[in-house]
Amino acid sequence: MVSSFALKAITAFLAASPASAWLIGKEQTETHPKMQWKRCTGKGGSSCTNVNGEVVIDANWRWLHVKDGYANCYDGNKWNTTACATNADCTKNCAIEGADYRSTYGISTGTDSLTLKFVTKGQYSTNIGSRLYLMKDSSNYEMFKLIGNEFTFDVDLSQLPCGLNGALYFVSMPQKGHGQPGAKYGTGYCDAQCARDLKYINGEANAEGWQPSSNDPNAGIGKKGACCAEMDVWEANSVSTALTPHSCQPEGYSVCEDDGCGGTYSLDRYAGSCDANGCDFNPFRVGVKDFYGKGKTVDTSKKMTVVTQFIGSGNKLTELKRFYVQNGKVIANPEPQIEGMTGNSITQEWCDREQQIFQEEIYPFNKWGGMASMGKGMDLGMVLVMSLWDDHYANMLWLDSNYPTDVDASKPGVARGDCDISSGVPADVESKSPNAQVTFSNIKFGPIGSTFAQPANS
Ligand SMILES: *[C@@H]1O[C@H](CO)[C@@H](O)[C@H](O)[C@H]1NC(C)=O
Repeated sequence: MVSSFALKAITAFLAASPASAWLIGKEQTETHPKMQWKRCTGKGGSSCTNVNGEVVIDANWRWLHVKDGYANCYDGNKWNTTACATNADCTKNCAIEGADYRSTYGISTGTDSLTLKFVTKGQYSTNIGSRLYLMKDSSNYEMFKLIGNEFTFDVDLSQLPCGLNGALYFVSMPQKGHGQPGAKYGTGYCDAQCARDLKYINGEANAEGWQPSSNDPNAGIGKKGACCAEMDVWEANSVSTALTPHSCQPEGYSVCEDDGCGGTYSLDRYAGSCDANGCDFNPFRVGVKDFYGKGKTVDTSKKMTVVTQFIGSGNKLTELKRFYVQNGKVIANPEPQIEGMTGNSITQEWCDREQQIFQEEIYPFNKWGGMASMGKGMDLGMVLVMSLWDDHYANMLWLDSNYPTDVDASKPGVARGDCDISSGVPADVESKSPNAQVTFSNIKFGPIGSTFAQPANS
């Protein structure tokens, strides 16, 4: 009795001391894959200079073990309740390891390209997908100020079937990540779903109250979530694509609790202070069914260039414009083919119209500040995220099929792509398409008009 009381007292004392941090494990050195990108200044992509960047995999994918041994602190979808009885214990007892990018996670880079493989069978475990951030140096994320600028990249997603998402997007996460592992180990992630599946939030473990997922052997949700504004430049597979701003207030990093987080991971999707839905431009969803896909106007069986313009100045974002370049031809985003909907770019007015026509139950994009808030989020500086994932919550049907699945598909906004409503179940996609992969390359960034030759009349 006495010793157990003493132990409790010591624990309480340590918990009250300033948050320590995860130690850096010594089993695997962290070496970030190098990846060049280009900063452009002149006109039409003619004057671009190479920037030597590097990428880092998010902390969630890494091996976490007790600091003085090999026992896992987290395994599969559960925490070790001895080492991680409380968040404070877990934060001081555990060490996070470096990553073997290629053999454990299926990640490789070329001079200016990044390839993410879907299923990778490693020596100790099978890895599913990944999420990486572009860095400026080994301990700082590259911060992008998007307004007034243009972001261009090439993508090959010919190998991405229904149910997968090869995403390239921006979030307002902190430049140095959090805690002792910092950005070097991929900490500090946040998004407009107020991510609760993160193991490390604001410099502390998220072990307390963790609920293992019922259908994902590698994930669960904790009591805490991390929210921030999110600009989804590219959520896509070979069937569908969406360009989607998600507002959030506050725009920068904030921690939420339990189902108050809202978003994908909470009982009430709309309980949080971020726009979990977004104002999306998906060509198929706005009625242009022959625009994007294999053999279509933008042919996803081949590599393409994707241009996104963030029009505005200061912290005011007025318009999001999209072009594609393929076979030397510039292809503008299409005009919607739904009665009452006009405009091939995203503006506040366009979002309001989409909401009116699609009649979504609520309009969280506006509730959390709409384009004005998105602009403020961008003005904080945003981190570039590239990921490949499958969807244990909605089978990616919101991107590539009819969704909600029980609503008449002829109702405006329900049909989003050619995939069947039974597609995208993670267990199926993982077993049928383990070799799926996406390659992002040739990233260019600079003022509007500096990264590609835009036709004079567009
Ligand atoms: C949990 O952590 C303790 C150390 O706190 C360790 O002794 C034990 O082996 C771990 N359990 C598992 C299942 O890894």
